[in-house]
Amino acid sequence: MSEPGTEPFAGTDPRPFLRQPPLPVVSTSAPDSVRLEGVERVLYEVTAALSEIDLGRLPWAPARGGYFRSVLHRDRDLEITVIRWPSGTGSPLHGHGESCGGLRVLCGAVVEDAFLPAPPGSGPYLFERSVFSAGATRLLPVGACHRVRAVGEAWSLHVYAPAPDDAAEVIPHQIRRRLASARRRVRTPSGSAPAGVLS
Ligand SMILES: [Fe+2]
Repeated sequence: MSEPGTEPFAGTDPRPFLRQPPLPVVSTSAPDSVRLEGVERVLYEVTAALSEIDLGRLPWAPARGGYFRSVLHRDRDLEITVIRWPSGTGSPLHGHGESCGGLRVLCGAVVEDAFLPAPPGSGPYLFERSVFSAGATRLLPVGACHRVRAVGEAWSLHVYAPAPDDAAEVIPHQIRRRLASARRRVRTPSGSAPAGVLS
């Protein structure tokens, strides 16, 4: 397998398999919770389908942070992307516009710092730091922000509904202040806030 991103894709494109059988429908007009159920269903079904193809033969595009993205499917309602995370790489803190989404770790493991919209009375965001290993799924409601870092080399599948204009949307300064507030409410056993989650 050649290093992703170092040479043009050549050979038979393995992606058409995703059209048969058809992808589950994720209606953009449905409530957030229903869309998230659809996202989870797509994650499971596409994960199963991916076992049939050689992921190394996909066309890869480099992304800021040193990782590589390959879009398997994109229409108005849905984007499905595989990410390869070389060891030591990670995404900046980002959002997904008006889309909800989810990720499933295909192999390896990732650490995620997530800021999730909080229930009324709990502040605007809840902060969570999690480690997701192969087979684990994380669902992200509309408005969630996160940062993902690889633990060793990792591969993950990402689904967004509807397809976002930018799957790595920069967080505006005023939102970052609210995220910092959420981070301060979380204390590690030593009494200090987790470091670097807004970098
Ligand atoms: Fe993301």
